[in-house]
Order: sequence, then C-alpha cells, then structure tokens
Amino acid sequence: MKRKFLYALIAALVVVAVSAAARKTQLGSCVAYALGGFRDVPAQRSERFLGKVADEDTARCRGGEAAVKWRSTPWVDWQKYWAAGGDESRARGWASQLGLLSPNRRGIDGAILDLEYQRIELLKFNLFDNAGTFEEYIRGRNGMAGRTLKSWPQMRLPKDHPAYTSVGGDGTQKCAGELVRFRNLTGICNDIANPLIGSTDQPFARNVEFDTTFPDLGLNETVQNRHRDRIGLLKPDPQVISRKLFTRAQSSARKCNDGQGLPEYSTEANCDYQKAASLNVLAAFWIQFMTHDWFSHLDEGHNQSELLAMGCSAQRVNNDERLLTPDEIKQLGCRPDDRIDKSYIAEDATPKSFTHEGKQYLTRAPKTTLNRVTAWWDASQIYGYNETSQRRVKRDPRDPAKLLLEPFEGSVQDQMGYLPVLEPADPMNPQWAGQESVAFPDNWTVGLSLFHNIFAREHNLFVAAFRKQAQATPEMDSGLRNPAAPEAVIKYKEVTAHDLFEVARLVVSAEIAKIHTVEWTTQLLYNEPLYLATNANWSGLAGKYPTVAAALEKVLQHLRKFDNDKKNVGWYSAFATGPGIFGLANDNKDINGGVNHFGSPFNFPEEFVTVYRLHPMVPDLIEFRELHRDPNVIRYKIPVTETLRARATQMMRRYGIANWTLSMGRQRLGKLTLLNHPRFLQNLSVPRLKSATGKIDVPALDIIRDRERGVPRYNEFRRQYGLKQLTSFDDFIDPNLPKDSRERAEQQRIAGLLREVYGQHKCDASKRITTAQLNGNKSQVNDCLDHLDGSMVDNIEDVDTVVGWLAESARPHGFAISETQFQVFILNASRRLFSDRFFTSSFRPEFYTYLGIKWVNENGPDGIKMETKKVNGHETEISPLKRVLLRTIPDLAPELEHVVNVFDPWARDRGEYYSLQWKPRKGAESDVAFKER
Ligand code: HEM
Repeated sequence: MKRKFLYALIAALVVVAVSAAARKTQLGSCVAYALGGFRDVPAQRSERFLGKVADEDTARCRGGEAAVKWRSTPWVDWQKYWAAGGDESRARGWASQLGLLSPNRRGIDGAILDLEYQRIELLKFNLFDNAGTFEEYIRGRNGMAGRTLKSWPQMRLPKDHPAYTSVGGDGTQKCAGELVRFRNLTGICNDIANPLIGSTDQPFARNVEFDTTFPDLGLNETVQNRHRDRIGLLKPDPQVISRKLFTRAQSSARKCNDGQGLPEYSTEANCDYQKAASLNVLAAFWIQFMTHDWFSHLDEGHNQSELLAMGCSAQRVNNDERLLTPDEIKQLGCRPDDRIDKSYIAEDATPKSFTHEGKQYLTRAPKTTLNRVTAWWDASQIYGYNETSQRRVKRDPRDPAKLLLEPFEGSVQDQMGYLPVLEPADPMNPQWAGQESVAFPDNWTVGLSLFHNIFAREHNLFVAAFRKQAQATPEMDSGLRNPAAPEAVIKYKEVTAHDLFEVARLVVSAEIAKIHTVEWTTQLLYNEPLYLATNANWSGLAGKYPTVAAALEKVLQHLRKFDNDKKNVGWYSAFATGPGIFGLANDNKDINGGVNHFGSPFNFPEEFVTVYRLHPMVPDLIEFRELHRDPNVIRYKIPVTETLRARATQMMRRYGIANWTLSMGRQRLGKLTLLNHPRFLQNLSVPRLKSATGKIDVPALDIIRDRERGVPRYNEFRRQYGLKQLTSFDDFIDPNLPKDSRERAEQQRIAGLLREVYGQHKCDASKRITTAQLNGNKSQVNDCLDHLDGSMVDNIEDVDTVVGWLAESARPHGFAISETQFQVFILNASRRLFSDRFFTSSFRPEFYTYLGIKWVNENGPDGIKMETKKVNGHETEISPLKRVLLRTIPDLAPELEHVVNVFDPWARDRGEYYSLQWKPRKGAESDVAFKER
C-alpha cells in the first residue's frame, strides 16, 4: 500500500515537472530541478558555471520570479534567492513554515551550493604558481595528477640558506626540531615538507592564465585583438582616470579644503563622501592592518630608485586621445610633475613555454614580483618577517615574553601603555621617524596605531594569564611539546620566556584570523548565506547548521562519483563543509596532515592585491568623539592627513585609544564605488620622493601599479575568474533601479564618464578576443561582444580592474565589496587557511598550549560568552574582537554593551534581519551622524 502511494506520488510529481504550465509554479520548478540533479564540475575552462544557474526551474525554485528575471543580467544569481537579502527577501505565510522545503531554506541552501561550486571551480581553474612548479601542475609527475602533488623541488631551501643543513641539505628536505615548533620569522617550515612555501621574498602567484597577464605586451593574437593599441602603462591616463572617475564631489569646497578640514579641527568642516550603511571606519583600518600582514611589494617602504611619470598628460576628447592643455590640467587639478618610484621586478626574461595535450602554456608570467613579507596569516606586521623588521619589535626587558608597552603620561587611558617610538638606531626609512616601532611601519595611520596597540596589549594579557596559571600550577602539563622529544611533557614552570613569546604570537595570529573570518567578513558581506559560509570556513556547518551541511555533502558525494578526472578523487573531500577548515585533522598523528595546497604552492596572487586597493573606504575627516563627555556629540573633525606617520602616534597618545576606537566605531566608512576616493589621497605628500611636487595621487598610483604588474583588464579578469563578461558600460547600471529614479540617472551619467575616459571603437566580429569563455550559443567571443559587426562598441575590455569593480552597482545584499572582488576572496580566503599548518593540523596544544587553544576557541580566558539576544535569528557568541576590546580597553565597556559586531557602526539600530537602515539605536537618538543620509 505504502509503495503504491509512493509510486503515485512520484508519478504526480513527474507530471508536474514535465507540464509546461506547472513548471511556471515554484512547486513544479522545484520538482523539475530536483529531477534534473546536480551539475558536474566542467572539464573545460570555457564551460564554467559563471554564477548563473543552468535553467529557469532552478532559479524559480530558489528565488521565484525575481530570480528568473535576474538570469539575463551578468551578475551572480544567488543574490536573488529567497532570504539571501534583507527582511523583504524572506518568504512569508504558510510556505515559510515548510521547514527544509520552505522557500527561505531553498534560497539559502541554493546560495551556499552556488558558492561551493564557485570555490570548486576556482580551485580547479585558477591556480597559477610563478615559482616554477606550473609545468608539473599541468603535466603531473610520475603518473600523479598535478593537482594531487604535495611537495615540490622549488620549495626546498637553497644552499645559501642558514637552515639548509638543518632541513636535510642535499637530501630529502624535511623541517624538524626547533624549526617546526613555532611560526618562524621568515615563514619557512610552515609546511614541513616544503620549507620555502609562503616565506618572505617568494614570488606572488597568479589566479589568471599567464598569457592573459601583462596585456599591454600584446603577447598573442587574442590579446592583440582584445586591446589593439589602446592600452599602456599610462594609457588611458591614470591621473585623468583619478580626477574624472574617482574624485569625491563636494557641496562646499571651503568646508572640505581638499581634505584638510578647518582650523582647530572645527566641526564646521565637512568633506562629503558616500557612506557604507553597515560598516565603520574601524573596518577600513582593520583591512589595512591585515594587508600589511599578507603582502607587500615594497621593501622597507620603497621601490626601485628610478622614477616614473604618473600621467596628467592626455585625455580622450570625442573618442580621440589628445594632449592636455594647461587650462585642462588646471581644471582637472592633476599634476604632470608627479613622480613615483618604479616597481621592483624579480624576473622579466622571456618565460619558457611548453605544450601539453595540444595546448601551449607559459611556465610563468612574463614578469614576476616578490612578496616582501610572509604570505602566512602570522601577524608578521606585528612580529616581523625578516631580521630588519624584527629589530623594530621591542620586548619588555622585565619579561621578554612580553612586548614593550610604555606608560604615557597625560593621555586619557594609559594603564596598559602604548608601543614605544622608533629610535634613531632602529632600522627605518626616514619618513617613519617618530612613529611607533613595529615590524611593518609603512603608510602608518592612526588606525594602524590603534590595532597594533590593541594586539600588543592582547599579547601581553595572554602572557600574563599564562604566567598566572604557571604560578598556580607549576607542575602541571602546559600542553606544549618539543617535537624533538614529543613524549616529554613540558610543565608550566618549564616554559621559557622565548617559548611563551612564540606561543603568544601563535595565539594572537589565530585570534586575528578568527576575527577577520567570523567578524569582519560577515559584516563586509552582510547577509545570511555569507554568514553561514564564512562560519563554515572557520568552524564548519556540521554542528550548528546540519541541514546546510547535509545539502553540501550530497553535492560532494555526487562530485566524487562522477568526477571525470579520477585521480582527483579525494580532492573534493578536502572541503571542510562539515568540520570546518580551522583545526582540520588536528587529531591525526601527522602534524602536517591537514594541509592542502591543491597542487599549487601557496602564495597570494597579484590579483589579490588589486582587489584590496580599498582606498575609498577612508574618509577625509574623522569625526572625533569622547567617551566620557557624551559619545553622541562630535567634538572635532580631524583630517586624516593630520593623523599620518609620526602624527598618528602623537594623536593616539594625545587623545587616547578609547576615544579613537569609539570615534572610528561610530563613523561609517566610505562606500567602495566610483567618485568616492578621499581628496587627501589624491594629493598625498610623500617627502621621500625627490620630485618637483613631492606629492602623489594614490588612486592614480593604484592604476599604475596594477598595470606595472600585469593585472588583466576588468572584462578578461572576470572571464578568467569564472564570472560573466560585460558588453557595454551600460551593464554597470543596476538593473534593480526603477527607470525614472535619480540613482539610475546618476549611474547613466557615470556610464557616460566611463565612455568618455575609455572610449569606443568600431568592432570587428572576425576577431576572437578570449579563450576563457564562449557565447551562450557556444560561438567564440569576438571583438563585437554581441553587438553588430562594424558597430561602435564601448572599450569595456580596456577598463582597469579597479575601475571596473568600483563601477559595479548591482551587488548582493549587504555587500560592501563587489561580486568580482568577492570571487577573488572565495578562492584565496579559503586557501590561506587550508595551506597553513598552524590553522589546521598543528592547531593543537603541543604548539599552542592548553591555555592557547582555549583562548582562541573561547575568545579569551574566561569561557565562551553569549549575546543575550538572538542576532539575525542566531544564538550568537560575544564576538572575538568585542572580547579583545573589553580586555585591552576596559573603559569601552558601557559603549560596547550595545555592540554586536565591532565593525558595524556602533550606534546603529541593527534591526531584525540583515537590516541596512541608518537609524539610531536607543540612547543614540541625539547623535548628529543620524541626521545625515
Ligand atoms: C590613510 C590611509 C592610507 C594611506 C595614506 C595609504 C597609502 C598608500 C600608498 C602610498 C600606497 C602605494 C604604495 C606603492 O605602490 O608605492 C598604498 C598601497 C596600497 N594600499 Fe594604501 N593607504 C591607506 C589606506 C589603505 C587602506 C584602508 C587599505 C585597505 C586595504 C589600503 C590598501 C592598499 C593596498 C592593497 C596597496 C597596494 C600594496 C602593494 O602593492 O603591495 N590602503 N597605500
């Protein structure tokens, strides 16, 4: 009887699925989608998923008609799924009560599946190592697929390395003894079998095919077809791009004063900027603090000695490139005499090429550059990445396990002290004189001062807590082990100051990685799918979100079964959707066993740097408040230029860290969009450059640096990353906007500006311009991009990548960044966790101590603490950065009582479900910031 019923039900569902009328309903679509099964991972780059679901049924099932309509746009589909936006995206009524089958569940699960597919494809198609391993990655080695390789001769220490003999010299190299105990200064021996991976001065990798890099070299016919002779280092002119496409419009030039504000930091000053709804200025400086840990092209704050011109020489007029007249220069406000030091290049000899299965490859990019810091998330900006930077890291002579913090007389809150200032004997670039002494001091801001001081305090608090425990239980096992004698217990009393310093570094680095992953990123990408996905990266879905984990597991089973490259089996199983990446395999015997480089040694790609050029986040003026004198009142408007380099340090001490944290916590940061770069950064004085102006336009420099380092231009960049190409500047206009809205008119104006700056050309449909993608009908993408042969088309291919991602106006709900930037993060944010032994199989007491593990897992020494109210529907732990602030700046406690995520503007009412409203919370009604939009 039961079976009969089941057959009848299946038959009915099949009828529903195949009946055209029924398929227009959500139920019909869901059944048809379910019967259609999962998609496979494509064999070819040109068959990628592009963030667009395969058919209408899938779209309708996951997001109703809105998602069906969205399929015709270039932008990823999941943003239109049920519950993936704000409250209005949630389905109501009886259907929402259907549990797993409810539209909201289907929407969220669908979005997470799309994201996971993206990650799988990115890992399959976007790894290009520049250190010499790429040929084996393609060809494989001794019958093993390249993607399954786990060690590389190029990652051996060279003969002249001081640790050469210790790791095995000429024989098999394997790190051992002291070299595997902690994070090493230069980042060697994180991977025990590949000592050099991620260490200082290794080449930046790429995420795009090598022959698409350095497009202005015109390396092959496809590239020549794509750009003809339209691009170069200064073409289109970078300063003209900056002035026309990046400048913040001002309602009062006097009140802004080019970002210099008014005398005595008067609150009458005002520099207009477009503000992000749900992210504060702390978030801007946090990410600057992070990037200094991850990558740097500069060595001790400089490049080569040769100086380069920076443009302000030509512009397009009526689609014709012409030299600028003096009047035009004046009107634009650019400076032809600005100069900048040329980028370091590591290798620029013509790279070798090879052929495999009929396809030709380059062995590396035509030019390479070095990452001058460790690529690991090891807090190297605090602790150092080579001997020179380490000399700036001052230890406390009274307890060398601690960092030196000095009491400062006269500041408002100084119990825990501030970092000491660089002394003349310290290694430094002259422009750093007077700043705090830290490993990475370049482009020093009051925000960097803030985070460096906070984490130096946190370091010392950990050491103090450990010392206290050691005093109470000197004979107890600390958890720590020396791999040279792994069976020997190390008691609390036996832990040396050196070891404790290094344990504290491990703990602080892991805390920072956790804050970034579960607190900064969830606020940057403020919606439910991303909340789940980023938490999954850290702690997995299995425990807290079993239904999403189960859905993903089904896909992974499917992929394993049908994988067309059998040698890759096991590759997908690395996906840590169940247990999470953090701590992966830390119960195995092998302390290196949880690491996965996916066949390509880890370093950040050049393209990653590009998407972190987040200068629009910085306001021109900081709205300064005081904790003990009504935080709702803005007391001063302090120009950011007054808080740079040595003045950052003076300002921090003069006004006190609590007030700065409060001020930056309450103020919104700048939206990542065109026409929103800080004025002061366009006119930044850089005394170390002995140029006629002594100034640079930093946003113009962003463009120049990307061109020097061969980042593909925007449209090919998207194609390479598995996103849909655009076909005209009008594609940047948000399809969500009503036809007659003011916002739409403004976006049309901006599309016009792009056209003015980048121009148009008469297209030739016989010219193929990419091999990365095909048109919908499987034909080759040609110069006309869907337009009629011989018609005038926008030079969308020439748009600089930074300009392109800033121009994207259609974004998933709550996304402060664009989907193009996000695509780069999906790949690299996972990889820097997967590749790091100390975040996977070596996250264990043998390295971190018992106290260290607890500190990281429980956000401090005193156990997990929960918020009293649900946050966006979730029971939520008090966030890790809030706990750090409560410990390091206790005065902030009353203000932090209202804060759930430290990167969300502190006095904002967060609403019920991923609200982006700009409305004061209770008690902050008088805050003038809420009087503005
Ligand atoms: C007041 C604040 C800031 C100042 C004065 C500043 C200044 C600069 C300058 C002068 C450069 C050019 C270095 C060169 O290539 O010669 C640069 C590069 C860069 N900045 Fe900023 N910056 C600020 C804030 C930020 C923030 C908030 C971010 C956010 C992530 C950021 C991210 C970057 C990145 C990714 C680079 C490229 C680094 C590299 O090539 O290795 N900056 N910045």
